Amino acid sequence: MIDTYCWQAIDRIPGYMSRLECEWLAGIAATVNSWTELGAYCGRSMLCVGLHLPKKATLQVVDISLGTVSRAGQTLFTTFVELRQKRPDLNIVLARMDSVAAAELLKDSEVVFVDANHNYENVVNDITAWRSKCRILCGHDWNQKEWPTVVRAVRRCVPNVSNPTGSIWVAPTTRDLR
Ligand SMILES: C[S@@+](CC[C@H](N)C(=O)[O-])C[C@H]1O[C@@H](n2cnc3c(N)ncnc32)[C@H](O)[C@@H]1O
Repeated sequence: MIDTYCWQAIDRIPGYMSRLECEWLAGIAATVNSWTELGAYCGRSMLCVGLHLPKKATLQVVDISLGTVSRAGQTLFTTFVELRQKRPDLNIVLARMDSVAAAELLKDSEVVFVDANHNYENVVNDITAWRSKCRILCGHDWNQKEWPTVVRAVRRCVPNVSNPTGSIWVAPTTRDLR
């Protein structure tokens, strides 16, 4: 459960993650020691996850842009600074780079959350690059009407996909990183 203190911080960040989806992210984050997010926009889901990871966990965040200005002038970088202040214990890696290229440079991670470019080819490439580097592969915008490209790409790449809440998709991999 996300508490009032965390909601106050999360709800100030513009983004596409619903409150239900944030609850799911927070619940999984509390159970793992490493998380990688591909595509963070202004950092709403990054902050949600970062506030709920256990002490001294690792959070890797990849986006081609750190300064997408949105409501209230919030950018991924300002949200990163806020998270850094709230969770100085975390090992946070903020990588301004392409999500596929990042797979070559960043560490394996218990969770990889795919939410970068939503084109069919990009989603396929993200999953292909990262699936062997995580235990839980998941992502956003599992929505046939709004993001048929995401649904098609995930279905092509991931056999046992499920939809736990909202437009989250999730699939266990064969890796054991615990
Ligand atoms: C849908 S938004 C992410 C939303 C975010 N997870 C949230 O909770 O608000 C997609 C993000 O992916 C980034 N992006 C697009 N293509 C990318 C790529 N090839 N590599 C890394 N990031 C990319 C965009 O800059 C944008 O910030």
